[in-house]
Amino acid sequence: MSEAEQRPTILEVQDLVVRYGSQTAVDGLSFSILRGEIFGLLGPNGAGKTTTLSVIEGLRKPDAGHAAVDGVETVHAPLAVKAKLGVQLQASSFQSELTIEQIARLYAGLYGLDLPRRQLRERLADVGLEQELAKPFKKLSGGQQQRFSLMVASIHNPPILLLDEPTAGLDPQSRRQLWDRIERSRQAGGSILLTTHSMEEAQSVCDRVAIIDHGRLQALGAPKDLVAMHRDDPRVRAVARGDVTLEDVFIGLTGSAIRD
Ligand SMILES: Nc1ncnc2c1ncn2[C@@H]1O[C@H](COP(=O)(O)OP(=O)(O)OP(=O)(O)O)[C@@H](O)[C@H]1O
Ligand SMILES: [Mg+2]
Repeated sequence: MSEAEQRPTILEVQDLVVRYGSQTAVDGLSFSILRGEIFGLLGPNGAGKTTTLSVIEGLRKPDAGHAAVDGVETVHAPLAVKAKLGVQLQASSFQSELTIEQIARLYAGLYGLDLPRRQLRERLADVGLEQELAKPFKKLSGGQQQRFSLMVASIHNPPILLLDEPTAGLDPQSRRQLWDRIERSRQAGGSILLTTHSMEEAQSVCDRVAIIDHGRLQALGAPKDLVAMHRDDPRVRAVARGDVTLEDVFIGLTGSAIRD
């Protein structure tokens, strides 16, 4: 048994089904994440990634199946689950007139944390924003907003962070900085579930990825293992432009058609 297999599970999603009216957005999805693991949920637009996250976050009740964070069922104990999760909020969801100090204090307060000014400065310094304490959120650049929302998501040191497309719209510098922060979080033993459309990102930061389509699991494993496993699949061969990459596997398994 490898080291990874002996680590306890931090997140479990089992036989999850979520319907919106007659449409099935998540269709029997199962995967689990080990403590300390960086896990990527990959899939074309509309594959069911955000819907899956919303069940884990306790925002939506599944029609069947279940999700548990650190052994706690999301439907049975939503508050206990929220305390164990860090959720990166969409940048636009912050009240933009408030300064970043005010927002950080607001969220620390929601988690019942006392956040002395010195600690707040340290947290902000950690994401390179110590000079911006008094700035309204809306005056930050896109990359600064992203870094700040990540800092707020992890303000209560949760054992697992959920990041929905954390690097969308970031420049290469900010993207690399975020990858470095993800790496540091891994070294500190934290787990991360992230979604991304960047196969380069998945390959760089994720220990394992799940490729989903139409709410169903298509492939699961370490990026390099998926490439090795599917390199001779005719659907993958047909789209490869040289050495088979994770992107070729992704497109081979999920098809070339553009989604709505
Ligand atoms: N609130 C909703 N009401 C009705 N249908 C929804 C709702 N949210 C999502 N859907 C539908 O469910 C499916 C899955 O959507 P979801 O947002 O989970 O996909 P996604 O994988 O996150 O896609 P993207 O990569 O574009 O963010 C899509 O077909 C979408 O149109
Ligand atoms: Mg989404």
